[in-house]
Amino acid sequence: METSAPGEERHRGTIEVRSLSKVYPSQDGPVQALSEVSFAVADAEFVTIVGHSGCGKSTLLRIIAGLLLPSSGSVTVRGRGVSGPLSDVGMVFQRPVLLKWRTIFDNVMLPIEMLHLPRQENRERALDLLKLAGLVDFRHHYPAQLSGGMQQRAAICRALIHDPSLLLMDEPFGALDLMTREEMNFELLRIWSQRRKTTLLVTHSISEAVFLADRVIVMTPRPGMIADIIDVKLPRPRMPETKLDPRFTECVRMIGRKIGLLYI
Ligand SMILES: Nc1ncnc2c1ncn2[C@@H]1O[C@H](COP(=O)(O)OP(=O)(O)OP(=O)(O)O)[C@@H](O)[C@H]1O
Ligand SMILES: [Mg+2]
Repeated sequence: METSAPGEERHRGTIEVRSLSKVYPSQDGPVQALSEVSFAVADAEFVTIVGHSGCGKSTLLRIIAGLLLPSSGSVTVRGRGVSGPLSDVGMVFQRPVLLKWRTIFDNVMLPIEMLHLPRQENRERALDLLKLAGLVDFRHHYPAQLSGGMQQRAAICRALIHDPSLLLMDEPFGALDLMTREEMNFELLRIWSQRRKTTLLVTHSISEAVFLADRVIVMTPRPGMIADIIDVKLPRPRMPETKLDPRFTECVRMIGRKIGLLYI
């Protein structure tokens, strides 16, 4: 495994984050969530982010998606400065943000309506995605009638429905049981390799981060800075056996040590 300098030039591309800082005002004084974060994600690259709880991962993803303004620094996506919500993006939030008054099917179709895309042809696509996520029989249910994991799978379908070229995923599989999580990992990799989406995914699982990624961004505890960016030199497609590869284990251990996990 190689490590590379944060924000290294050869990865200039689809997403460029430069000297990003974020300070939240709070009753107890300002909270510095991010400090001078710089990196770039190349076209069709799969990058994962790991770091302690509260180190600013969700803040970072929200700023890139144009849902939150930074205190200083800048983000460009495909060379254009981000100043408001992006449309060619599929975002999966840490908690499934579904509209409780719409059925699962109508929730998945929401981006189609918002972007004024043709409804009929996308209905088929929505059904295919729901089938894939094991939710087709629940398409007429409302979010409150589904488990947390099922809601999160619906949110993932919604992020993919308009075939965005950029995927921003904030712990998308955190609420899933282990088996479903593994299945969704493979499914995501299949979609990513077929459609070549640029993907930035936050996870608390170091082994998931390594398994999925071309590179893993390791963040420091709050205020979030980049501790390191690790190149994952494992062949694709990734298979169940990938996790038995000594290079995989070594990479997981190295990142664990950087994060401060002493038992690894
Ligand atoms: N709206 C807000 N107002 C004030 N402070 C906030 C706000 N949102 C986040 N923070 C603070 O900013 C820091 C970073 O929060 P963020 O949610 O980005 O962390 P995270 O890395 O995603 O954590 P987790 O892994 O637990 O999801 C935390 O200390 C949090 O308390
Ligand atoms: Mg978070």
